[in-house]
Amino acid sequence: MKFFIDTANLEQIREANDLGILDGVTTNPSLMAKEGITGEEAVMKHYKDICEIVDGDVSAEVISTNFEGMVAEGEKLAAIHENIVVKVPMIKDGIKAIRYFSDRGIRTNCTLVFSAGQAILAAKAGATYLSPFIGRIDDMNWDGMELIKQIAEIYAVQGYETQILAASIRNPLHIVKSAQFGADVVTCPLSAILGMLKHPLTDIGLAQFLADHAKANG
Ligand code: E4P
Repeated sequence: MKFFIDTANLEQIREANDLGILDGVTTNPSLMAKEGITGEEAVMKHYKDICEIVDGDVSAEVISTNFEGMVAEGEKLAAIHENIVVKVPMIKDGIKAIRYFSDRGIRTNCTLVFSAGQAILAAKAGATYLSPFIGRIDDMNWDGMELIKQIAEIYAVQGYETQILAASIRNPLHIVKSAQFGADVVTCPLSAILGMLKHPLTDIGLAQFLADHAKANG
């Protein structure tokens, strides 16, 4: 399973990249706004900066909601760097845009996915990645992980090549279960990645090893 970081914060991207386990980055308009990146020029530069840090796919989301706008924006985004993946919302014009990009060799990430029906349409349109939003489903008191399982089963049965990119990850358990249930990629905040390191028995065991070593060695 590939690991993407879900942020537009350059420091956090560098920190995750330095771990040596990072395969890419996802952003969205909210994450860009959180970093104060506004205006076309600044947005383009920011994506270029991200691409220069990470050797992997970087999802850049279109703002337009009609086919012509998404195509114009997506082509500009894709021209920034070969690692840019155009992120397109799961709406009718989005599906048309994904087909357009797919036919021209431009990779896409279909975002805001909340059902298996949407996942089938995105795969049929040739999406490179599909982003089901696990955390937001859990927030509604449903089970986001059930959706990952269902999509993984459908994609395997049908032989769809679209990669399942588990998104809206809130904690380490979401990452572990995404791996268990067949996600190809997980995109997560730095806190969830670092949270996977933690276990009290690791800390207790390490403290004991160091104490014993110190005692034996004076
Ligand atoms: C990533 O591609 C998504 O935009 C992101 O994971 C959404 O996460 P959120 O539900 O925490 O905003």
